[in-house]
Amino acid sequence: MSLSSPWRADFPALAALEAEGQTYLDSAATAQKPQAVLDALLGYYAKGAANVHRAQHLPGERATRAFEDTRTKLAHWLNAASPHEIVFTRGATEALNLLAYGLEEQFQPDDEIVISALEHHANLLPWQQLALRRGLKLRVLPLDPSGLIDLQAAQQLIGPRTRLLAVSQLSNVLGGWQPLNELLALANAQGALTVVDGAQGVVHGRHDLQATGCDFYVLSSHKLYGPDGVGVLYGRATALQQLKPWQFGGEMVMQADYASAKFRPAPLGFEAGTPAIAGVIGLGATLDYLSGQDATAIARHEASLHAELLAGLAARDGVRLLGEPQVALASFVIEGVHSADLAHLLTEQGIAVRAGHHCAMPLLKSLGLPGAIRVSLGLYNDGSDLERFFSALDQALGLLR
Ligand SMILES: Cc1ncc(COP(=O)(O)O)c(C=O)c1O
Repeated sequence: MSLSSPWRADFPALAALEAEGQTYLDSAATAQKPQAVLDALLGYYAKGAANVHRAQHLPGERATRAFEDTRTKLAHWLNAASPHEIVFTRGATEALNLLAYGLEEQFQPDDEIVISALEHHANLLPWQQLALRRGLKLRVLPLDPSGLIDLQAAQQLIGPRTRLLAVSQLSNVLGGWQPLNELLALANAQGALTVVDGAQGVVHGRHDLQATGCDFYVLSSHKLYGPDGVGVLYGRATALQQLKPWQFGGEMVMQADYASAKFRPAPLGFEAGTPAIAGVIGLGATLDYLSGQDATAIARHEASLHAELLAGLAARDGVRLLGEPQVALASFVIEGVHSADLAHLLTEQGIAVRAGHHCAMPLLKSLGLPGAIRVSLGLYNDGSDLERFFSALDQALGLLR
């Protein structure tokens, strides 16, 4: 009997996509949203939209309260010491760019920034460009054969010149949990700032950021079953004090005249202009929804689906799995078959998977691949999705081989 998902019915998009003949297996790119989140979005607009932090009227106060409630829920979700450590951005990408601009003055020429070989472009390009602007060295931690950051190499590479370490918690291509504690300890021993890209990691389990001890952590709401256009920068209070504002405008300023301005501290000092109000309120509803579910049951369900996915791939000739994924995703190539051709045939059969370089071109290049297919699962996927995927895969391989 195929695995069913008790959460599937909470996500109306799944039935809508199924009615269109689509099987959604691309949740690591963006996840579908539960009805509770759609209700929160509609509820905000239907009751009366209003700007936050500036109006005293009822809709303004209501919007501000709901917006700030999400900040408090996030602080709780991530175990931040205070809601003041939560800054809203437009995504993980914007949060990383904020850091790369806001920390610019912390660096001297020849300081080193250390990243890893598996970073998403969002956690590579902002640091690369900062290094080019300031004459810094960008150093890249290599991977071990299982696709994790090589700790022995990290011991050599992270040294007295290291001013900042920026690494992913979980690779969006290889799906492995990185040895974060060890890496952060190496960076802390050198007094370096630490940035963790939690865009994928935050989706798979709760993380206690005070225990983790990183200076900064970023995530995107849309991957965590929340609305798009919203991201989060967590910063430890003392780390946030080292950040300069990078965007200037409304509500981030305490005092302004024609010659100068005095800026607010975090978080509002980093939230210039009107934020994604509905999205932030929707993210609050997402956290409420997820808090109401049995996290262990979700993890068990995803692990069972993942095991089925890996077994199905392993049973087919010539499949090369990339890395050793520990969460419900699998990136792969098939000997003698071009990934782009395979992706095309899967798409024609209504299978929504990701194909290409996965915004990690240097990683794919180091694996000697122009691209790969990635299947990624959410809590709403079930055994029938995998059956449709494997049937489409076999049909495509029949045509391509
Ligand atoms: C590991 C990782 N970091 C960062 C990002 C960027 O997220 P966003 O495009 O939502 O800013 C992604 C998105 O795929 C990701 O997988």
